[in-house]
Amino acid sequence: MLENEKKKKKKKQIFVVNDKTCYFVLRGSTSIITGSSDGIGEEFAYNYAKQDFNLVLISRTQSKLERVAEKCKEINPKIETIVHSVDLTLPRSDVEEDIQSLLEPLTISTLINNVGMAVDLEQFHLQPESPTFKTLTLNVKVQLWLTKWVIKRWVKNDSKGTILNLSSVSGCVGIPYLAVYSSTKGFTDTWSRSVVLELKHLKKDKDIVIHSLQPFFVSTSMTKIPVLPTVPHAKVIPTACQRQIGTNVSLGPYWIHSLLGIFLRSFPSVSIPVMRIVMIILTKWKKSHEKKKKKKKVN
Ligand SMILES: NC(=O)c1ccc[n+]([C@@H]2O[C@H](COP(=O)([O-])OP(=O)(O)OC[C@H]3O[C@@H](n4cnc5c(N)ncnc54)[C@H](OP(=O)(O)O)[C@@H]3O)[C@@H](O)[C@H]2O)c1
Repeated sequence: MLENEKKKKKKKQIFVVNDKTCYFVLRGSTSIITGSSDGIGEEFAYNYAKQDFNLVLISRTQSKLERVAEKCKEINPKIETIVHSVDLTLPRSDVEEDIQSLLEPLTISTLINNVGMAVDLEQFHLQPESPTFKTLTLNVKVQLWLTKWVIKRWVKNDSKGTILNLSSVSGCVGIPYLAVYSSTKGFTDTWSRSVVLELKHLKKDKDIVIHSLQPFFVSTSMTKIPVLPTVPHAKVIPTACQRQIGTNVSLGPYWIHSLLGIFLRSFPSVSIPVMRIVMIILTKWKKSHEKKKKKKKVN
């Protein structure tokens, strides 16, 4: 490659350097964000739009995706956005081909495995089966095939990239009444750390940076909890995460949550009364919400 071209290519990259590694943004490259029509994924979309990334936004609801894409364009008119509406709990064979053919022509430099769901809080043995298995598909399986496809491509093309996987504090402590959800988040963290070790062996861990993000309760439609000192707005997560990229594989993107994680690991039984209170509040909230909905329909 000519020296000038090499210099130009280097100039295109913004390095956010710390002493261990560097996280790079290739101008004009694309970030894939799953579950980006709401909550944390939506905030990642705005954050990455600001940083000049083109975006592939994936979730079920086309109208919500279009609203997020429009807002991203308002934030940064230079970027391109592609939206893809699909139910990712459907069998892999029904969804994978469309997504791969959408991604094939793009220069991908970030994958944010954000999509996830939690079912109603309940004792494990009383949980209905169907949502349990949907949770396994959405929280575990989707990130596996998407990540495998992206890493294979990066290794083959000798490219660089970043992968952010949404785990949770619940994944490192085990949370009652959320047994399946917290186990899937534990899987995400262990899997992320294992793949990082494999990349280290291939001497690719500086080129392919993987993190598992571990927030606790965040105010989104998943938790339905208002913003509180211990429950931040979703926009806090991408901003905090950006500052920590290149440090530990498992990141605590909100310092209060990291402290709560340490506390819960030391005193796991404390989570029982805490989660029972959350369960009571959410059940009451759900009942009054449903009543209001019914009243609206009658009027
Ligand atoms: N909120 C928290 O307290 C918290 C804490 C720790 C970790 N996390 C993790 O962070 C991630 C995001 O959570 P969040 O609270 O931002 O969730 P959220 O507000 O409920 O948003 C979930 C996103 O996923 C999409 N989605 C849901 N089901 C889908 C499906 N079957 N197929 C395709 N897309 C689907 C939703 O869009 P559509 O409805 O349009 O499909 C939405 O864009 C999750 O992995 C969660 O486990 C959350």
